[in-house]
Amino acid sequence: MTTPWGALALTRFPEDPRDRLRAWDASDEYLLRHLAAEEVPLSGTVVVVGDRWGALVTALAEHRPVQITDSYLAQEATRANLARAGAEPGAVRLLTTQDPPPERIDVLLVRVPKSLALLEDQLLRLAPAVHTGTVVVGTGMVKEIHTSTLKLFERILGPTRTSLAEKKARLIFCTPDPALERPASPWPYVYTLPDGIGPASGRTVVNHAGVFCADRLDIGTRFFLRHLPGGRGGRVVDLGCGNGVVGTAVALADPSAEVLFVDESFQAVASAEATYQANGVPGQAEFRVGDGLAGVPSGSVDLVLNNPPFHAHQATTDATAWRMFTGARRALRPGGELWVIGNRHLGYHVKLRKVFGNSRLVASDPKFVVLKAVKR
Ligand SMILES: C[S@@+](CC[C@H](N)C(=O)[O-])C[C@H]1O[C@@H](n2cnc3c(N)ncnc32)[C@H](O)[C@@H]1O
Repeated sequence: MTTPWGALALTRFPEDPRDRLRAWDASDEYLLRHLAAEEVPLSGTVVVVGDRWGALVTALAEHRPVQITDSYLAQEATRANLARAGAEPGAVRLLTTQDPPPERIDVLLVRVPKSLALLEDQLLRLAPAVHTGTVVVGTGMVKEIHTSTLKLFERILGPTRTSLAEKKARLIFCTPDPALERPASPWPYVYTLPDGIGPASGRTVVNHAGVFCADRLDIGTRFFLRHLPGGRGGRVVDLGCGNGVVGTAVALADPSAEVLFVDESFQAVASAEATYQANGVPGQAEFRVGDGLAGVPSGSVDLVLNNPPFHAHQATTDATAWRMFTGARRALRPGGELWVIGNRHLGYHVKLRKVFGNSRLVASDPKFVVLKAVKR
């Protein structure tokens, strides 16, 4: 990426030489061009929210910014990109959406996230640190910036306008008004599960902003909950746990199961822990932010439960499902099982057969299938 601060070699995480997707986009370039052209003073505390793969903080490293992200993958990509760019260790403070934000923010740069709820939550968390002199600039692709996006800036921070579009990207300029009466945060959102879905029926689910299906039970997850393997004990992984409803259901059904909840989203893992705690589940659990099953010892797991991500960019999504399935095969003990829920049309049975050499249909309805693969 060519920036006013020099040319940078940037990668996504995990790094894959076959990956043709870039680790930055026109909205990153537009924001950096604007900061340089307008000579925006990058002094005091510079905070960058939602930087996708660390392109923004890597370019701005000499200004010692603070990065706030919900994504473990984004954080790892940032570490690698900073190291490759020769940034001084510690030049960029890496915070997650779950960490307390800086107390005072002088420049706030926002790469608009895909989730409006996450943007709302983040702006509400950061607003008390913003003052009349804070420079606030948002950026995103035109298709990601809606009237509702601008209204959030307007309602939480102050008067907001947008730039002209350049290369299908747009900037958001906001003049902070600390006297604004801000609404209380609606997050985390707590709801009760319906009846008829097995051990988790009528239980509580806690959702931090931005997690998958935060305001209601996903219909695929609902189908999965009705067909989970029952009471086998052992080491179980809720892979891509989101709000933790699947792993919590397993723990409720079988207190002798040790459940590991894993997600690459800090908001998701915090939600899973809160869901588990809210239900006073007996038994043992571990909560981990990470990339799939990386770090889980080979042959140590009895059962992996997985509802793979499917909303992201198609190529990314496919790669993630592959990684999750191959990771599960490695982590499972011989005889251990991976159970997957997916839309019929995603064809997960083909992938499972490639990775495990077998795949069996456990349940199906017109839309979804639950599949099982056994490590041989
Ligand atoms: C379709 S959602 C399923 C959430 C939950 N299990 C459910 O069924 O409601 C997929 C989850 O996978 C997570 N995810 C995506 N990529 C991941 C990765 N590389 N490692 C771990 N989790 C990941 C997403 O953050 C998301 O929470």
